[in-house]
Order: sequence, then structure tokens, then C-alpha cells
Amino acid sequence: MDPIVLGISGSPIQNSNTDRLVKYVLENTGLEFEFIKLSEMEIHPCKACKNCAKNNVCTGFKDDWHLISAKVAKAEAFVIGGWSPYDMLDARTKAFLERMFCLRHLVLLNEGKLGVAIVTGTCNPDSVANRILAYFEGEGVIPLGKIVASGIDACWSCGLGEECIQGTPVPMVRDGYRPRNYPYESRLPSGESIKITPEIIPPGVEDQPEVMEEAKRLGKLIAKKLKEKKEKRKVLLEKLLPHASFLSTIDRVITMTKNFHSLGWITDDGIKRNLDSKLLEAKTRFEKEEKEKARRALLEFAKVVLYQTGILISQNASDILVGETRQIMNDLYDPHFYFQG
Ligand SMILES: Cc1cc2nc3c(=O)[nH]c(=O)nc-3n(C[C@H](O)[C@H](O)[C@H](O)COP(=O)(O)O)c2cc1C
Repeated sequence: MDPIVLGISGSPIQNSNTDRLVKYVLENTGLEFEFIKLSEMEIHPCKACKNCAKNNVCTGFKDDWHLISAKVAKAEAFVIGGWSPYDMLDARTKAFLERMFCLRHLVLLNEGKLGVAIVTGTCNPDSVANRILAYFEGEGVIPLGKIVASGIDACWSCGLGEECIQGTPVPMVRDGYRPRNYPYESRLPSGESIKITPEIIPPGVEDQPEVMEEAKRLGKLIAKKLKEKKEKRKVLLEKLLPHASFLSTIDRVITMTKNFHSLGWITDDGIKRNLDSKLLEAKTRFEKEEKEKARRALLEFAKVVLYQTGILISQNASDILVGETRQIMNDLYDPHFYFQG
């Protein structure tokens, strides 16, 4: 079963604070979820070949992105967990977000989904979490909130911490240096003695009560918002298309389009013919189980709705038509079609 909520961790440390926090949000949704640890995969950053522009599939690399991109397309919510070397988003999480670029062209395949951003760091990496939220907005993903937590700085555990003056412990304990917004000053010993013990390093996320509280709240919020979204969609669908629940997803789109024709909402005959022919193509491909060809025909259909009819039919009608089509396209999404042979 495909996950409803997809959790991503960019942390390379086994069972790290970042991992545990992402998982805690996922568990609190009470929904079907999957946790993906990017360091166990090989996902290259985008190389800007722009091959994905025509069909929303990245063919620039044959790497592990293709093991997860269909899950990304099908997921309804994302919990993205990064860490913050040099106060920036870590490279793995960044590469993952860059590769998601392939899903944005023409119709924003992730539009209307939900997103939670998590970033761990030593110096309260609020600005890094804000970048993930801004990324969500750019992709049409609704940002539900962010969690910023203390991670364990590598210098506390690298083995050199008590002697290395370039690291964190010596300057903090001996020289009084404080990283920006350092929240655990009170744990640091006074005086010259530098003995690294668990008591002086930041606690794990489970002992950061406000962080865990927010993670729980956001997990539950994902579930609540997805439920509300489902109900809203049902009401709108029933209004525009009584008995929608008895129809297959593609027949819903076909019937709605016919209804819009007969209501005179789409007046241009050329556009009407164009819409009908794309849908007929999609339906035929669908029935022959030619998934990718069906998806491509639906992409052409959605393009006509978005780019040509948007001004002729009401916003609600246009939104639901594109929304339903987007959902089918995501269900059909299968990058492996492009890597056969
Ligand atoms: C190479 C490196 C550079 C780091 N630089 C920063 C930094 O500039 N600012 C910061 O807040 N944390 C920094 N950190 C600390 C990490 O953010 C911290 O290790 C991370 O939160 C660990 O999360 P984890 O407990 O999930 O592994 C750095 C860590 C490493 C390994």
C-alpha cells in the first residue's frame, strides 16, 4: 500500500534526533506512512537537464530517486527532516527537494498536499526550516508548520572534543563562546575543566518537551487537515456531479467535462473538442492499462483546462477538474516506463 504520509530524513546518523522526530510526527498522524532515510539511498542533485519539463519525469539520472518518486507523487503529505551543517540545509535533503522539481511543471503535481518542515541543529536553525516552508509554498504544498530542535553537534562525539580548539566543546566550555541562540547554556560547566559527559551536551529530542509537543500537534494536524480536505472535496464533487462516488475517477472527469459543456461553461468549440479528444485518449489508454500514455493524455487535458479554459469556467469548477485529474495522474505516475530496455 502506498503511504499517505511520507517522512524524509536527511540525517546520516543511525536513529538520529532528526530521524526520531520525523517518525514521531508520522506516528501521530495515525495514517499509513513511510519513513525514508536518504543516506541509505543514492539521490543526486538536479543537473538542470530539464528533460522533466515535458512529462514530469526526471530522466537525468538512473538513481534511487526513481524508487521513491512514485511514492512522492502519490503521498498526500510530507514531513521533511533536515539537519543544518554550516547553518544550511544538508546536502541530501536539498538534493531530494531539487529532484522534486520534476513534479512541478505545467500542473504542480504536489499542489494542495500538506507539508511539515523539521530541522535539527546546534544554533536554532529557524531560518533553514523557513526555507523548507518557502519551498513548500513554491510547489503548491500547504505548509502546516515547522519544528526546530537541538541536534547533537558532531564535535561532542568525534573523540577529539576535549583537545580540539577548532571544535565546539573547547571554545564553549573554556572560552565562553556561545553559538547563536544556543539553548542549553545552563548545562555547561563553569571553569576550565573540559570533560565531555552526557549531562553537558544537548539532550535528545525526547527530552525537549516543547519540540515533542509540537511534533505531536503537527502529526495530528496532518490527519485533521487531510480529513477536512477529503470531506470538502466530497461535498464539492457531489454538488457538481451527483452520484460521483459511483463513477471511476476517470469517468468522473469525463462526466464533469460533459456537464460543463452542456451548462455552456466552456463555450469555445475548438477547446471543447480538444478536451474531449484528450479524455477519450486517456480513457482508451487507461482501459488498455497503458498507464503512462493515459497519464500523458491527462496531462494534455489538464493543460487545456488550466491554460485555456480557466477564464471561461468558474474557479471552483476549474480547480476540481484539475484537482481530480492531478489525482489520477499521481496515481498513474510510474517513472520506470522511461527506463525500460
Ligand atoms: C559538518 C557539520 C557542521 C555543522 N554545522 C552546524 C552549523 O553551522 N549550525 C548548526 O546549528 N549545527 C551545525 N552542526 C550540527 C548539526 O546540525 C547537528 O549535528 C545535527 O543537528 C545533528 O542531528 P542528528 O542528532 O539528527 O544527527 C554541524 C554538524 C556537522 C556534522
